[in-house]
Amino acid sequence: MAEESVSQNELLLTAVKCFEKEFGVLPEKAARAPGRVNLIGEHTDYNDGFVLPMALPLVTIVVGKKNNSDDCRIKTLSENCDKPTLVVFSISERQNLKPGNPKWANYIKGVIANFKGNVPGFDAIIISSVPVGGGLSSSASLEVATYTFLEALTEEYTEKLEDKALRCQKAQHEFAGVPCGIMDQYVCTLGKEGHALLLDCRTLEAQLVPINDPNLVFVITNSNVKHELASGEYAIRRKQCEEAAQYLCKSSLREATLEQLESLKLRAPIPDVICHRAHHVIGEIARTTEGATFLANCDSKSFGQLMYLSHQSLRDDYEVSCAELDELVEIAKQVDGVLGSRMTGGGFGGCTVTLVTKAKVDDLINRINEKYSQTATIYIAKPSEGAQVLSLEDYIK
Ligand code: GLA
Repeated sequence: MAEESVSQNELLLTAVKCFEKEFGVLPEKAARAPGRVNLIGEHTDYNDGFVLPMALPLVTIVVGKKNNSDDCRIKTLSENCDKPTLVVFSISERQNLKPGNPKWANYIKGVIANFKGNVPGFDAIIISSVPVGGGLSSSASLEVATYTFLEALTEEYTEKLEDKALRCQKAQHEFAGVPCGIMDQYVCTLGKEGHALLLDCRTLEAQLVPINDPNLVFVITNSNVKHELASGEYAIRRKQCEEAAQYLCKSSLREATLEQLESLKLRAPIPDVICHRAHHVIGEIARTTEGATFLANCDSKSFGQLMYLSHQSLRDDYEVSCAELDELVEIAKQVDGVLGSRMTGGGFGGCTVTLVTKAKVDDLINRINEKYSQTATIYIAKPSEGAQVLSLEDYIK
C-alpha cells in the first residue's frame, strides 16, 4: 500500500488543539506550504539551469497568534524533530538573531530575520506531513509556511511571490548553512495543482507543464536512509561547478555546451572530477527542457528514458547517489509498466521518483516491499498547490 498522507484538515485540527492546550487560547492565523518532488533537473538550479519540480499534498502547517511581547514561543509536532519542547527566543532586535539549537528553529529564525516587514512577538504550533530529511524539501516547506504565516499575522502580503521564495532561500543560506539553489522555495511558494513547473533558474520564469494523464502515476519511494555527507558534499559540488564554469570562461554552466567541454578537455589539463561535474550539469539542463517537451506532448516513454539517464549521470558523473537509491532504481526498472526512475533531490539518501502506468502501480509497490534491503515508504505524487493562508473559521467556533 502507498502511504496515505494525513489530510491537511486533520493536521490543522491537531495543530489547533495543541495550540489551545499549550497557550490556553485559540490561534488566530494559519498557513500551509507543501513539500515537493523534482521530476528531472537535479543540481542544475544553482547553475542557472532548468528544473521540473511539482508541489506535493504533503504539507507543513503553522498556526498561531500575536502574544503582545518581544518573544516567539514555538513548538513543532513534526516527526523526529527533536523532542516537542517549546522553543522561546526574543525578536526585539531581529538583526541579532543567530542560528543555534534546536536545529529546526533555525529555519524559523532565518525566515523572521528575512521577512520583509516588522515581526511582532507570536506563539505558534508547527505540524508537518513532509518526512524530515527525506529529500522532499521539508526545510523549504517549513520556511515558506512560516513566511506565509507571518504574512497572515502582519497582513503584509508579498506582491511578487518570487521575492518571497528568494527571502526563504536566503534564510536557508544564512541560518541552515546550506548554499541551496532556488528550486525548493520557488515550487513550495508557486506550485500549481495538476502541474509541474519548468522553471528557468536564471530568469525565475516558469512554464506550467500539465501532469494529468489518467493512465500514468509518479510514485515517490523514500529509501528512509540519510547519509551524513549530504550538506558538506552539496557545498563542494557547488564550488566544483563554479570552477568548471571558470575553466570554460562562462558565467555559469548554463552557458556551456557539451561540445565546448569536449574541446576544452583536449586543450587544457582540467581535473577529471571537474569535467565529470560539468558533464552532468550541462547534460541534465538539456534533459530537463527536452523532458518537459516530452511530457507536454504526452511522450511518457521518452520522458522515462531521460529519467534513467539522469539517474545514471547523478550516480556516475555527479556522485550524489548512494547504494540504497541505486538499488531502488534497479528494482523499479525490472517491473513491467515502469517507464523511468531516478533519485530526486540533493541525494545521499532520500527518495526516488518513478514513472509507472497506473495498472502496474501495485506491482511496483509489491516489488519494492519484497526486494528492497531496507524498509521503504511509498507515496503517490499528486501535483498540488503552493503555499496558502488557511481559514480557521471551522476550527475555532
Ligand atoms: C536540494 C537543494 C536544491 C537543489 C537540489 C538538487 O534540494 O535545496 O536547491 O539544488 O538539492 O537539485
